[in-house]
Amino acid sequence: MFFTAAALLLFRKADKMMKMAVLVSGGGTNLQAIMDAIDSGTITNAEISVVISNNANAYALERAKMHGIEAKCVSPKAYETREKFNEALLQTIQSYGVDLVVLAGCLVVIPEIMVKAYPNKIINIHPALIPSFCGTGYYGLKVHEGVLARGVKVTGATVHFVDEGTDTGPIILQKAVEVKQGDTPEILQRRVMEEAEWKIMPKAIDLIANDKIEIVNGLVKIKE
Ligand code: GRF
Repeated sequence: MFFTAAALLLFRKADKMMKMAVLVSGGGTNLQAIMDAIDSGTITNAEISVVISNNANAYALERAKMHGIEAKCVSPKAYETREKFNEALLQTIQSYGVDLVVLAGCLVVIPEIMVKAYPNKIINIHPALIPSFCGTGYYGLKVHEGVLARGVKVTGATVHFVDEGTDTGPIILQKAVEVKQGDTPEILQRRVMEEAEWKIMPKAIDLIANDKIEIVNGLVKIKE
């Protein structure tokens, strides 16, 4: 059989398992959705090399360990300055040789050195339809409080690449979720996770792992 050098290169690329670092801060239900999707074959060609939390008590670390995945805490409290913490976090990620960094409920502000080290290789899940209810100050329950205070009837979730701004990178996938009368921030948060976040985050990872995503003029195109 005859292969050109280019064909061989393509073959190797498709064959290579994408390695991920998943960064978490809390309960880790998005991490769980990713692990379950890998187990069920909904995500192919990808594996989690390490789960890293800034918070030693994050239940997400337990979920990783129960799944036989290495779990690490890199806490800002252990470093004299934010710069030293940022460097330690980056070095820890780099030591695993990962191809993609997944922010799955990660409350750490991602430093510029990390964005530069992983251009278009960091993705984040935001629990609203960007560009609504996003940017500085919109995290966790505050997003859903903002949605209810404004009275919008549809919210959702967004997976996007991370750039130097806050929630400003190219949008990969979005899914809408209905806001219902009588919702509390907690009820709405749960519905957004169940109906949107746990679906689009695994889907986005699968698309990236299978080389189905390209960025054209700052916008994501999904290859046919
Ligand atoms: C999710 O709503 C996510 O969108 C937000 O924080 C929450 C994390 O949940 N950034 P979990 O830790 O994945 O359960």
